[in-house]
Amino acid sequence: MHRGLEAAYIGIESTDPARLGSYLTEVVGLMPGQAASDGAATWRLDHKAQRVWVREGARGDAVCMGFEAADARVYDQVLERLSGQGWRVAAGAPEARRARRVRELAVVETPWGVPLEWVTGLEEAATPFSSPHYPEGFVTRGQGFGHFVFVVGTADEYEAARRFALVGLGLALSDWLRLPMGGTEMHVSFFHCNPRHHSLAIAFLPGADVSQRLHHINFEVAHVRSVGMAYDRALRTGTPLANALGQHANDGMVSFYSVSPDRWRVEIGATGRTVGDDWSDVREYDRISDWGHQPPDALAQALAGPFSSHA
Ligand SMILES: [Fe+2]
Repeated sequence: MHRGLEAAYIGIESTDPARLGSYLTEVVGLMPGQAASDGAATWRLDHKAQRVWVREGARGDAVCMGFEAADARVYDQVLERLSGQGWRVAAGAPEARRARRVRELAVVETPWGVPLEWVTGLEEAATPFSSPHYPEGFVTRGQGFGHFVFVVGTADEYEAARRFALVGLGLALSDWLRLPMGGTEMHVSFFHCNPRHHSLAIAFLPGADVSQRLHHINFEVAHVRSVGMAYDRALRTGTPLANALGQHANDGMVSFYSVSPDRWRVEIGATGRTVGDDWSDVREYDRISDWGHQPPDALAQALAGPFSSHA
């Protein structure tokens, strides 16, 4: 199901860009790109000039997410629809277009507080993509960046976020998750706009601390082998893990989550299920994973169990 748009990039603000930068390069294994015209450090996933940018600032959070329209017609259509529905839309300044290396740029408010940058013409890089960590590269062709997951803390925000994604931006619902958590219930909605199972997901954690909106970003790679090697890299460098290797129930992705120096997470995964025009599996899930994805304390407990030689 191609709706003429793709997740394109993420913009991050960090109190310690150098530390975050070495995590992105050495642990996640992204390819450093050329600094942007506003001085932001950038990273690449593919033939595009930049897919992640980081600037220094007080927040340790995403400050924008980029979505790219396939052409000027889709760009205008969506902008008209969003502003017609009452979402605040502002034209991007020429300096911002230069810094993001895009042709057109509009900034749209979102219910989860991280502005959406609606763009066309994300530039190609001057040099080919090459990474010692991902010889086959990332899965981006026709699917864009991996995915972004943001957190909302109230039912009103969740409803507004779903409306924004479905009715405003024009994404389609892939499926959703409902999971009891403590005395409450977590809800997550997964949205697609091309063959990737989800380019955006919104997690509603009632009463959650939403001082950090970005829960995680996902990068998809072609083979489980690259996921395993990234997992080894995280373990070798003593990078904290949020979740061990596992496989998600809805999109089938085999992945793990490491924790960035700013606490939001990075999921690296492969074997993600794709959705087509005939997608009819829009349903509720009652579990996040079919196997694995244990938090580290559960894993440590299992490894220190009665059969461990270190017990
Ligand atoms: Fe994810």
